Amino acid sequence: MVKIFLNGCCGRMGHAIADMCIHSDDYQIVAGSDIASYDGYPFPVYQNPSDSTEDFDVIIDFSNAMAVQSILHFALARKKPFICCTTALDDATVAEILKASEQIAVFKSANMSIGINLMLELVKNATRTLYPDYDIEILEAHHNRKLDAPSGTAMMLAAAVQQEAPDTLEYIYDRHQVSEARKKNQIGISSIRGGNIIGEHQVMFIGDEETLTISHSAKSRDVFAKGALKAAEFMNGKQSGYFTMSDCIAEMIKE
Ligand SMILES: NC(=O)c1ccc[n+]([C@@H]2O[C@H](COP(=O)([O-])OP(=O)(O)OC[C@H]3O[C@@H](n4cnc5c(N)ncnc54)[C@H](O)[C@@H]3O)[C@@H](O)[C@H]2O)c1
Repeated sequence: MVKIFLNGCCGRMGHAIADMCIHSDDYQIVAGSDIASYDGYPFPVYQNPSDSTEDFDVIIDFSNAMAVQSILHFALARKKPFICCTTALDDATVAEILKASEQIAVFKSANMSIGINLMLELVKNATRTLYPDYDIEILEAHHNRKLDAPSGTAMMLAAAVQQEAPDTLEYIYDRHQVSEARKKNQIGISSIRGGNIIGEHQVMFIGDEETLTISHSAKSRDVFAKGALKAAEFMNGKQSGYFTMSDCIAEMIKE
């Protein structure tokens, strides 16, 4: 049984994880924290994590980019593994997470789904084969309450392309601001926001005679919740180091 402290427990992802754990023999949320309040959980919800006295194995964070440094400090104070699923972190926060990995185990992924993490590998393979003959464009769509654009996942997909392309690529976010023909060493990244879309990502490799599209569609938030719980199991007992979903999947495949 992995005991979890859940930061951002009153949000959409917080509810998805809490609902999954209520029926689980493998995972238990022992406490949560959020600036919002909700009294329908079977565990206490703290406004300030430091007020909690419960013992736990790992912290899962699905909150807000502005909240991540303070929950990271809580993880350092309690010397517990920290799983950061919140997106749109600034460079200073990313650097602090990396530095913290010398003292505690930290895990960071902008997308906890197994499908997206496999998609990253497919995109790398396609880039090796098709760039620079094919133009590469990334399209993402999310619900109308999402705060950041482009999504953290779109940026992970762009980084996967960049990792395999021999040139330094220019990211073009708003093509309407660039009145010139498309250059080869570019990745176009476009965002759509509307309704209740959970998360759609496409990477298009557009040649003169054909287009290859690699796409992923999240049907439910449970896919991210399940991934976060797998990460909790993977991180339980780790003392220090920096881990991603690829490390977690590699261990799952070995089992
Ligand atoms: N890594 C992934 O797979 C993945 C998947 C979905 C969402 N996300 C990211 O996770 C984050 C949360 O997503 P969501 O859809 O649940 O958002 P949400 O807005 O529904 O929930 C966020 C919660 O965090 C709380 N919060 C805000 N500031 C806080 C603070 N200082 N301390 C504690 N709690 C605080 C809010 O009150 C809210 O309850 C976003 O950054 C989102 O992009 C990541």
